[in-house]
Amino acid sequence: MSEKFTITIDGRTVEAQIGESVLAVTRKVGLDIPTLCYLEKCGPLNTCQVCLVKANNKLVPSCGTKVAPGMVIESETVEVHEARRTALELLFSDHVGDCLSPCNRLCPLQLNVPIMLRHIQAGRLPEAIVGVRQALALPAVLGRLCHHPCEQGCRRNSWDDPAAIRDMERFVADHDLKSAEPYVPPRKPSTGKSVAIIGAGPAGLAAAHFLAREGHTVTVADRHERAGGALRNVSEAELPRSVLEAELAQLERLGIEFKLNVELGRDLNLEGLTRGFDAVLLTIGEIPSHETHNLGVVLGPSGIESDPNTGWTSARNVFAAGSAVKPVKQLVRAMAEGRAVAECVQLHLLGRTPRRPEKTFSSVMGRLDSGELREFLRSANNAGKVSPCDRCLGHNRDEAALESSRCLHCDCRSSGNCVLQHWAHVYGADANRFRAERKKFEQQLQPGGIIFEPGKCILCGICVKLTEMAAEPLGLTFIGRGFDVKMAAPFNRRIEEGLQKVAAECVEHCPTGALIFAEEKPSLTKR
Ligand code: SF4
Ligand code: SF4
Ligand code: SF4
Ligand code: FES
Repeated sequence: MSEKFTITIDGRTVEAQIGESVLAVTRKVGLDIPTLCYLEKCGPLNTCQVCLVKANNKLVPSCGTKVAPGMVIESETVEVHEARRTALELLFSDHVGDCLSPCNRLCPLQLNVPIMLRHIQAGRLPEAIVGVRQALALPAVLGRLCHHPCEQGCRRNSWDDPAAIRDMERFVADHDLKSAEPYVPPRKPSTGKSVAIIGAGPAGLAAAHFLAREGHTVTVADRHERAGGALRNVSEAELPRSVLEAELAQLERLGIEFKLNVELGRDLNLEGLTRGFDAVLLTIGEIPSHETHNLGVVLGPSGIESDPNTGWTSARNVFAAGSAVKPVKQLVRAMAEGRAVAECVQLHLLGRTPRRPEKTFSSVMGRLDSGELREFLRSANNAGKVSPCDRCLGHNRDEAALESSRCLHCDCRSSGNCVLQHWAHVYGADANRFRAERKKFEQQLQPGGIIFEPGKCILCGICVKLTEMAAEPLGLTFIGRGFDVKMAAPFNRRIEEGLQKVAAECVEHCPTGALIFAEEKPSLTKR
């Protein structure tokens, strides 16, 4: 009897062999079915249920189901996706952790604050500026003028004072601007597409910064003789002009071209711009009510009419953002608006349907009680806020390192690498859908550098199986029953004692941030 036969996957006839799993066959044809508890060398553990497919009309885990002749498999249907999303949401019902720190979630430009602070604390300033310039088009400006919503949500606030996040941003940016060659972020290879941005205020500059890095040719036009828009109205004491000029020079170094003293409706018109550029973005700021000149787009009561989901105006290939659409009071919000619409322009240029970027998925723990706060404080500097000895110059290197060491590192060390977070993002899971009363946050620091956070363990069984396969002298196991099952080392010993041979392998394959190394290992990817 031939071992080969055919099965049907989402209407396609596919060849399969006796003994293969449904997961293996679907992967061969290029489907990316989510898995958490599956690692090829361990075989199916069947604990997470996120790899569901419908086989002959029944929902089954694809990793643990073998193919059979004539089998009819449905994978990419609404029903199957719904079932996978529910499986993910159930895993979050008792998950204790924040993927992203509160400060990161509150920053309209999503600056990864704790990573910046860890770099400053360790004196790794070249690394710090890379992350800062990735998120912020004008960090030295924001480091002075931002209304810092991040600090309002800083966890350290419930102990003494928030971490001085804005000052740290300024410190990193000033240090970079003072260097011989300030850092210019990389640009993707040229796309051959061009964008005209009309208005060189904060929204336009943030959009230009994003689109130039995506490899488009970006020209920013403004009716004033200098770029900066509303930033030019700020006093010298709040924002020295030299700082603004240095930041603008950085944007020029990135390849953005500025055309100044040109005005829409006078020197330029939309028709000509749309002929000369693949897309046009209007960031002209608030339009005074007495100005009735014809811009070439439909105006509403508060400004240019545009689709709130895409930034699209009534004119073809023309987008609008920032106060030109609706007054935006805060600098950082104007910049976030500019970037969000720039992301729509980017999709449009790639021939895709524009839509605003989705927020990165994050599980949220909410308020910590004082015991949990103390748990976080164990790895932070307990001293109070560090003020710079010279307010005008800002923090020096030592003061900045000391201030940064007050951060509680509220982010999950696995964020960005976590397989659970990845699939929750892809499937649009709602982490709170089945949320029960939260268990306490617990962090077991092992002397040899491993951290175990039991609240993030999804009991997948991978580490237990790996220790078994490696014949670890002690190993790991599941203890307890029903809802109280826990992964632990036997006989009340430490996790690390159970991981004498395969610690690195277990950390690498743990699909969440439950098992991690205390020191960040940037090369480690779990996916
Ligand atoms: S383990 Fe994953 S899902 Fe859980 S908090 Fe960390 S990054 Fe988020
Ligand atoms: S303590 Fe650090 S990580 Fe936590 S919210 Fe404050 S700055 Fe962010
Ligand atoms: S700690 Fe072990 S059982 Fe828990 S999620 Fe990680 S690999 Fe799975
Ligand atoms: S049950 Fe299949 S990957 Fe978890």
